[in-house]
Amino acid sequence: MDGAVAGLPMSRAGRGWLLPVCLGLALLTSADAAAGRQGVNLLEGDWAHFAGAVLTDAGVRVEGLGRAIVPTEDADDQTPVANPPINLRGPVLRVTGDFALSARLALPSDPGGAYLTLYGELPYNQDEWRQPGRAVTLGVEDDRLIVELQDGIADPQRHVYSLGGREAAVTLGLARLGDEFEVRIDDKTVATLADPGLFDAGRLRFGASATVGSSFVLQALTARALENGRVEAIEEGLPVVEGEPQSLRRLAKKHHPHLDIGTAVSPIPLFADDAYARLLAREFSMVTPENVMKFQFIHPQPDRYAFAEADAIVEFAEVNRMAVHGHTLAWKEALPRWVTQPSHSDERLRQILAEHIAAVVGRYKGRVRSWDVVNEPFEPFGAALRSGSPWYRAMGEGYIAFALRQAHRADPEARLYINDYALEHPGPKSDAMYALAKSLLARGVPLHGIGFQMHEDMTEDYQPVAASVFRDNVQRFIDLGLEVRISEMDVNLHEDDSEERLQDQAEYFRAMLELARDEPAFTAFSMWGFTDRYSSLQEWWDADGFGNGLIFDADYRPKPAYFSLRKALRE
Ligand code: XIL
Repeated sequence: MDGAVAGLPMSRAGRGWLLPVCLGLALLTSADAAAGRQGVNLLEGDWAHFAGAVLTDAGVRVEGLGRAIVPTEDADDQTPVANPPINLRGPVLRVTGDFALSARLALPSDPGGAYLTLYGELPYNQDEWRQPGRAVTLGVEDDRLIVELQDGIADPQRHVYSLGGREAAVTLGLARLGDEFEVRIDDKTVATLADPGLFDAGRLRFGASATVGSSFVLQALTARALENGRVEAIEEGLPVVEGEPQSLRRLAKKHHPHLDIGTAVSPIPLFADDAYARLLAREFSMVTPENVMKFQFIHPQPDRYAFAEADAIVEFAEVNRMAVHGHTLAWKEALPRWVTQPSHSDERLRQILAEHIAAVVGRYKGRVRSWDVVNEPFEPFGAALRSGSPWYRAMGEGYIAFALRQAHRADPEARLYINDYALEHPGPKSDAMYALAKSLLARGVPLHGIGFQMHEDMTEDYQPVAASVFRDNVQRFIDLGLEVRISEMDVNLHEDDSEERLQDQAEYFRAMLELARDEPAFTAFSMWGFTDRYSSLQEWWDADGFGNGLIFDADYRPKPAYFSLRKALRE
């Protein structure tokens, strides 16, 4: 096997493209075939776009990436949460009733772990925490079988069984029989466990991972329906969405072509939630990967990159004619532990950053239009540069010019930005950013623009910065010859999302968009997501809900803010 797996074209345009993959059809009746009782071969689907996977003649080799979500700095003592890759672009198994899955794993000669995860519901990743999905993981560690059930709420239930020795290969099976799972090794049942309804949604996706430094080969992965069940494998290509004349992107293109209308985007809903993907492509002309280009996601080990999710977003953007803004290269957050470990010399850190930028920017050369090369270089409020990052510790302030130069070398056409928050109003932080930009330009450092994040709060007692104040403050950056962009706007209403507040929110979005619309130095008006269904505000302010700072609600209904943006673009 190389890139093209038997029978399936590797990329398809259009969604809802169904492909039941059938085996041994000739021997069975058509009713059996339709129900999937003869079995479906899930390795015939797309495993080429799966992080850590290499297609070989023997099957899919899964290499250990050790990808993890690192806790925030103030929770340094906590263990990072594993973030093993999910084959988002691969086969989806539709199931009803009883069914059986079987996986043959060729194990490495080292004692390293080999894991296959069957997701009934996908997790949702932020970059300091993850909301677990519903899943079963089957794995082999040394000479033990590990079965882990995750119901999305409680801590995972872990069961360990002896394999009675470690063979070169093992066949692991999981059958759902009514409300129980039967776990099998080489066709012998070793355990029966209660099923907390993990696959009730009727769709399964697959993920796999190995211990860092180790790998195993997934030689076979099949599913078949049992007596009263039904299984079917489907594959969904990248959705391509037709234009809609009244959409934000089309209105901007027609009336204000200097301005991209952008949003942050996450790969899990992009592939698992069709409504998300369609709305995204319909309304926006630019995407910023919210988390997956951050260091810990894309570069989990010194010698390992995990580009699959970022690739998927870039390809989605390309087929839907959207621009991509890359986020982010030199930041003090979302760094894997291998970077933050204290033993690195300054020289080594310099080398790590240089290699990282060369690899990531180089991979997307000509495809990512602009980059947040440096993110949040300043302390939250005030003029001081953040001194806590490894980059600052190794190079002092010089890391900023260094990162910009490395990015420019890797893609001389890309537009390079510094991005930060609380820069909207005049004051020490904004003054310091201005002084930094001016000095970089004077030294000939390739800096092209400044990103103003604009994460705003709006309550009865608190009004965010007025558009006129921002307008005045941004002018001095434009006068330096820089581009500017609103890069991460959201307007958090906190607990009060009454009709009145939603109108205020709409007015505020409109005022900021008008400002960007009327000033050609603005290249983008970009929001930090578009639906409250998947909003980063959940974590920060509203543990029980999804926040309310974006222009579509959690059911994808447009809020007044959406209509006010449309109106502003029509003028
Ligand atoms: C946020 C993401 O939205 C969250 O999912 C993550 O948990 C934390 O980071 N400024 C930035 C973004 O530049 O990278 C941050 O994104 C939001 C603030």
